[in-house]
Amino acid sequence: MARRPQQRHRRRRAASASGAPVLLEIREIGARGDGLAEHDGRRVYVPLTVAGDRVRAALGEPRGDGVAATLLEVTEPGPDRAAPPCRHFGTCGGCALQHVGDQAYGAWKRAQVSSALARAGLAGAEVAPTVRTPAASRRRATFAATRRGSRCVLGFNERSSHRISAVTGCLVVEPAILELLAPLEALACAILQDGESADISVAVLDGGIDLVLTGCPEPGLDARERMAAFAETHDIGRLSWRRSAAAPAEPVAARRALHARFGGVAVPVEPGAFLQASAAGEAALVEAVLAGVGAAARVADLFAGLGTFSFPIASRPVPETAVHAVEGDASAHAALGAAGRGRAGVTAERRDLFADPLSADELSRFDAVIFDPPRAGARAQSVQLAGSAVPTVVGVSCNPATFARDARTLVDGGYRLERVTPIDQFLWSSHVELVGVFRR
Ligand SMILES: C[S@@+](CC[C@H](N)C(=O)[O-])C[C@H]1O[C@@H](n2cnc3c(N)ncnc32)[C@H](O)[C@@H]1O
Repeated sequence: MARRPQQRHRRRRAASASGAPVLLEIREIGARGDGLAEHDGRRVYVPLTVAGDRVRAALGEPRGDGVAATLLEVTEPGPDRAAPPCRHFGTCGGCALQHVGDQAYGAWKRAQVSSALARAGLAGAEVAPTVRTPAASRRRATFAATRRGSRCVLGFNERSSHRISAVTGCLVVEPAILELLAPLEALACAILQDGESADISVAVLDGGIDLVLTGCPEPGLDARERMAAFAETHDIGRLSWRRSAAAPAEPVAARRALHARFGGVAVPVEPGAFLQASAAGEAALVEAVLAGVGAAARVADLFAGLGTFSFPIASRPVPETAVHAVEGDASAHAALGAAGRGRAGVTAERRDLFADPLSADELSRFDAVIFDPPRAGARAQSVQLAGSAVPTVVGVSCNPATFARDARTLVDGGYRLERVTPIDQFLWSSHVELVGVFRR
């Protein structure tokens, strides 16, 4: 008996939803790095694909406005497909875009910025080519460690999963971090009990390596002794433990003072403090910020962190330079304040810039303002900036969507968005950092 078309359609949908393979053509790579295709009028997200790929994929769970799929086979590769350089790529969730040819990859990162601006009605803004950073340059990374029976695994979470993929090499992190992978797995084995897990954050700082174990039960005396011995054997600068990412870190072995150096100034770094992900990324950001600020003498650095921009700005040969660094986190503010104390030209203020942004009046004493908020952006501060008379505003962001929203507020307040520079600090991930310069 012939089935009516609607019935056939329903059956196909049921078969697809149960994971039966479908043939798809990938149109483009979406914002999270997955290829986008259409099937039965629905958007399909297929990881590890590029535009022009023809693929066989299994449809899975609903995702946002469409459905997630698993790539089964590339039947015909698109023009931008390249061989991924890392053997863990595809399983390890650390990288999303190693299968994209270099030129297309840089263009995709730039397009993330242009499209976010276009969605905010700022399609005319000039977006520079993506500034690239090299492989093996990431100076901080967080690994997941777990113990099941006598077996310990240290690695990154697998793609779309809580399972940990053992990582025996990584092309993204600095060699000093790479060298620690095997010893860290042994450390996890020495201190974790069956069924326990921990996140292990590693940062390469001035003075040594900073290690923070997060999420495992509080170490007892025996575990503390093993941790201290590990720090000694591997010349770790400081090794701390904390119950959760929100809890204060408790140093178990503090062998040396650890610093970050900005504009020649050494700033003490507390365990887990925010630092730009790589020295190369930081240098590119500082260069773009300095270019935007130009010869402005009185500068406010909002969401200043440890002073990544404050100290390089203060050390420019500009007469009567004065930098006012505003930061919400108590410990970052204290570190920046301590490093700035006694230095002409740097003042520090602790302030919640979401709840209590600098008012348009307060802003009027500055020639330039830098803002570098967390991913949520600087909504309230942008409203005040939009109503101010500050001639130059430089925005730094790791989230093109919230940057575009805040840029819209500034443009509506009379600023011209002169130029946006995308910076690829998070190599082979779908993230992009940027610096935007506004003038009035
Ligand atoms: C992306 S980081 C940038 C830090 C610094 N500019 C840098 O480049 O290293 C964002 C900073 O904003 C701070 N922050 C987060 N929420 C804040 C708030 N409500 N008020 C003030 N600062 C805040 C964080 O503590 C962090 O230092």
